[in-house]
Amino acid sequence: MTDILTTWGGWAPAIRDDPFSHFAAAQARCPVQRVRLPGGDRAWVVLGYDAARRALNDPGISKDMLAALQDNGDVVAEGLPGPEFSRHMLNVDPPDHTRLRRLVSRAFVPGRIAALEPAIQAIADHLLDELDSAGPGATVDLIEGYAYPLPFGVIGELLGIPAAERPRLHAWFGVLLTGWAGDPPPEAVEASNGIVAYLGELVDAKRRSPADDLVSVLVAATEGEALTRQELLSSLFQLVVAGHDTTASLIGNGVVALLDHPGQLQVLLADPGRWPAAIDELMRFTAPVPHATFRVTAEPVTLDGVQIPAHEQVLVCLGAANRDPGRFPAADVLDIGRGDGPNLGFGHGIHYCLGAPLARLEAKIAFETLLSRYPGLQLATGRDALAWTRGDGLVLRGLTSLPVVLDPPNPRRNR
Ligand code: HEM
Repeated sequence: MTDILTTWGGWAPAIRDDPFSHFAAAQARCPVQRVRLPGGDRAWVVLGYDAARRALNDPGISKDMLAALQDNGDVVAEGLPGPEFSRHMLNVDPPDHTRLRRLVSRAFVPGRIAALEPAIQAIADHLLDELDSAGPGATVDLIEGYAYPLPFGVIGELLGIPAAERPRLHAWFGVLLTGWAGDPPPEAVEASNGIVAYLGELVDAKRRSPADDLVSVLVAATEGEALTRQELLSSLFQLVVAGHDTTASLIGNGVVALLDHPGQLQVLLADPGRWPAAIDELMRFTAPVPHATFRVTAEPVTLDGVQIPAHEQVLVCLGAANRDPGRFPAADVLDIGRGDGPNLGFGHGIHYCLGAPLARLEAKIAFETLLSRYPGLQLATGRDALAWTRGDGLVLRGLTSLPVVLDPPNPRRNR
């Protein structure tokens, strides 16, 4: 049954808010199927857990969309800020992937991640102090005031972006990642130009005065000719993008899921040692990154008995695979105590999320600091008013705002 051609993406608000029954129905029809993308292109969507895991690590499926689709004579639409920012590890295959990932990995060794813990804690405490200053009983936006600036501050620390310069960069990325249909609006072009100019200046400044940060490490690699300037700028851009909206979405989605399941939140507050396992379950259940980035078949590939010809786009639906009932019993139930082993929330194979240990640490500090300081935290709006409209709904599933009262005078359950 590979001839069903549903449109995949560009969903109505109700599906974006809760895509899981839509994913499940599609998966029940066929775990690997041909679909039409909102722009009209054809692609193959992979929904079953086993097929998804295979697709993410199949050498016959390439991440070099530009080369593969151009070989096929197709025109490749380049998003902002353009092709000179697209030569990073997530867009290339080995051996370039191996070289680029190895260079950037120097910033992600366990010692360096652990050393960031006090800085992450300080950022979380500071953001909550700021929100607290709104006064008791005030409604605050947890996305704008906490979930989004926290990982942005952390990526700033990691890269060595001076604290005073983060707000304008943060604002530009906010505009650039909003998403739009058709030609980019002028404010997105302006934001993109601002980011391009800023990253170029940052690289030049670190070349003049190196410091103990990732930009300086990568600048040194360009001098040894292990990395071109184009690859350096692309890698910095990708790290900022990959490193903050994803984590922000996990924090926002996770808080809502825990408010929806107050019994499990109580268990976590009583036994904080359970946070690491709970974070993996929140990743599985809330799908902050519902699909991996686009891939393309470099040769004919067979997945779950379905043959996909060469030069076809492939979209792996992590959100569906992580709720595959054949892999996760009672897949639609949030259970922080489930011991079912790894899920695909951080991907799989050679492109497995390089930032996963950092994201886990950030999420642990973010959830624990927020919910132990404000155990009575409540939604300040009806549950149905929450809208998952941040991102495109394909690669990112996040809330645009999450109005809450941190410390209500008479805490009561949200549901
Ligand atoms: C909850 C937060 C995060 C989630 C859910 C997430 C998810 C993912 C996924 C699914 C992939 C694989 C994409 C694919 O195969 O198409 C990926 C790759 C990647 N992520 Fe993350 N990520 C998160 C946080 C971070 C952070 C904090 C960083 C860095 C600061 C980061 C850096 C990267 C990089 C560099 C890659 C590319 C790896 C490669 O191509 O070899 N991510 N991430």
